[in-house]
Amino acid sequence: MKDINMIIEELKTNDKFRYKHSVGVMETAMELAKIHGEDVEKIKIAGFLHDYAKMYSNEKLREYVKEYNLDLDPMLIYTKDLCHGPVGAELIKERFNVTDEIILNSIRYHTFADRNMSKFDMILYLADLIEPNRKVFSGYYKIKKLAYTDVEAAMIVALDKSIKYILEKGEKLYVESVELRNRLLD
Ligand SMILES: [Fe+2]
Ligand SMILES: [Fe+2]
Repeated sequence: MKDINMIIEELKTNDKFRYKHSVGVMETAMELAKIHGEDVEKIKIAGFLHDYAKMYSNEKLREYVKEYNLDLDPMLIYTKDLCHGPVGAELIKERFNVTDEIILNSIRYHTFADRNMSKFDMILYLADLIEPNRKVFSGYYKIKKLAYTDVEAAMIVALDKSIKYILEKGEKLYVESVELRNRLLD
């Protein structure tokens, strides 16, 4: 693959790329990976590039879903913002030659917690929530504290929060996220 430091340089000046947030997620994810014994170099790439597809409109993202023939649950395609994960994974594979499935999966799943998420995937998911440039939300400090000591416990709190939020808005739940929460509770 292309050297990650070169990609970082290259995307610095792209005004549609969320550079500050991406660096924040990258640094937080690297810190967490170090603590929890996951691959720091791989999570550096995943952290920096996780929102790569976010510079495209929802319309454009749906076009990519067709173009790449992605087999996604329709609710992931039509709920705003959920398909930038899976589309992003395809784009960075093609544009930066990232082929490592551990990296690609964590990017795919960061938008909609999948039932089979690994610890690596959870670290990226949590880093996205707690990176220092994020606006503080209720539960932020609790999730942040837990993320450094117990990834699964942090993930349960994060899922609870997200599920509550979806219920309050009266929207559909993604069944796999509920299944993941059940798995973690066991
Ligand atoms: Fe994202
Ligand atoms: Fe993000």
